[in-house]
Amino acid sequence: MIEVLNISKQFFSGSVNVQVLSDISFKLEKGNTLTIIGKSGSGKTTLLNCLGGLDLPDSGRINCFGTDINCLSEKKRSLFQRKKLGFIFQSGNLLSYLTVFENIVFPLVLNGFSKKDRTKRVKNLLEMLELNLFAKAMPHELSGGQAQRVAFARAMAHSPQMLLADEPTASLDTQTGLNLIKLMCSVGREHNSTIIVATHDNEIIKYADKIIHLFDGKIIKELKK
Ligand SMILES: Nc1ncnc2c1ncn2[C@@H]1O[C@H](COP(=O)(O)OP(=O)(O)O)[C@@H](O)[C@H]1O
Ligand SMILES: [Mg+2]
Repeated sequence: MIEVLNISKQFFSGSVNVQVLSDISFKLEKGNTLTIIGKSGSGKTTLLNCLGGLDLPDSGRINCFGTDINCLSEKKRSLFQRKKLGFIFQSGNLLSYLTVFENIVFPLVLNGFSKKDRTKRVKNLLEMLELNLFAKAMPHELSGGQAQRVAFARAMAHSPQMLLADEPTASLDTQTGLNLIKLMCSVGREHNSTIIVATHDNEIIKYADKIIHLFDGKIIKELKK
């Protein structure tokens, strides 16, 4: 279970304080999918960054499967992120000088998986994401949709407890974006990972177990299926 309790965050912009997150609380069960919607500037990225320990809230608590990520030392937090979390950003997720296979295997090497296990995991993901023919391709040879599928495969390779995706379909056409989301949900379920996606895309909402609508850093609506 992921538990977010009363988190708030301000940024200082020029000489003004901007309240970017106000008293955000929600719970999410393991293996569920949450989408965070809201217009640009509503606080989606800041919330994801706080959930993943990339940024610190000013107040409140985030408990991720029994670990309070903000109470960890920097070293333990990095380890937690490497072992338990996966990240996908809007674009530019891949290392341009590594092949598709090398990009996906990278976190498995860092996490000390055996060579046999690494190969098996990458092959499975390549198959599930219809990327078999691209194992040796370089990122610049991929379409936008393929590149985001590789980014997803890399984020999922170590079966993270929680995957955080910040507008992963923003640079894709509607159909390609939808296919990515469907794959994310089915692969996420198979790995029993909790998936949290920030998005502008109304279609994506249909696939979520829970939806949080942010407006000016506040939850104005929460829907559960
Ligand atoms: N590092 C920062 N310094 C100052 N203001 C920031 C910073 N990051 C985000 N903001 C402000 O916080 C608000 C929310 O931003 P963000 O979380 O990126 O929203 P979204 O992802 O929904 O577009 C915006 O007003 C943005 O300008
Ligand atoms: Mg954003």
